Amino acid sequence: SVLPRMAFPSQLARLRAAVPVVLPSLLMCDFGRLGEEIARLEAAGVQGLHLDVMDGHFVPNLSYGLPLVETFRRLTKLPLDVHLMIDNPGAYVDRYRSAGADSMTVHVEAADDIRPVLEQIRRSGAGVGLALNPPTPLSAIEPALGMVDLVLVMSVMPGFGGQTFDPVALEKLSALRAKLGDRVLLELDGGIKASNIGQCTAAGAQLLVVGSAIFGTPDYAASAKNLTHLAQNKASN
Ligand code: DX5
Ligand code: ZN
Repeated sequence: SVLPRMAFPSQLARLRAAVPVVLPSLLMCDFGRLGEEIARLEAAGVQGLHLDVMDGHFVPNLSYGLPLVETFRRLTKLPLDVHLMIDNPGAYVDRYRSAGADSMTVHVEAADDIRPVLEQIRRSGAGVGLALNPPTPLSAIEPALGMVDLVLVMSVMPGFGGQTFDPVALEKLSALRAKLGDRVLLELDGGIKASNIGQCTAAGAQLLVVGSAIFGTPDYAASAKNLTHLAQNKASN
């Protein structure tokens, strides 16, 4: 059974108080002008950043790692929600925490038993996140639900931005919401757009990760604000 939620780690409490929150996914941004990119997002009022770390093994793409997380930490005070799409995540938990990760999300598919890694993240002081891919059933994360602060439901196969939203994620969100109440933050990642974000929050998504629907547009601030408005609108009625 899932333990009653005592208190969220401080890093996630702020995000939780503001839900539904749009989290820009830093994968398709201009890495040559990172300071300006982050300043634009902060000016747009975003409440946190989703950092997509990919190792070229767990996913068929390689993005960035520790040096960049350290750079993001230097550039902003916003919560850094680090999505570790990597093999053997346990070997890196402490280093990503030292680099500045406020929360770390690992994939249930990355280990036979992911619970020891979740325990390591808890001990590091970071918020504890567990992700599952579209083909992975909820039963796979059941044994770990009492250990996490957030569940990241993937609506695309991890590895790339700009993919098409897989609605199987909405069924998982609704089932998790019904099961967990608000003891765990629900995060959704992949293919979220203005056209579907209302459905996502209606299904229970509280943290909405958005990449191309922000970074693929000329005006990040306008896109982020519009998406946030749509998310909050749907959540309210
Ligand atoms: C995919 C990443 C997602 C992705 C989101 O592996 O985890 O965060 O970058 O990008 P869009 O919103 O374009 O699907
Ligand atoms: Zn992600």
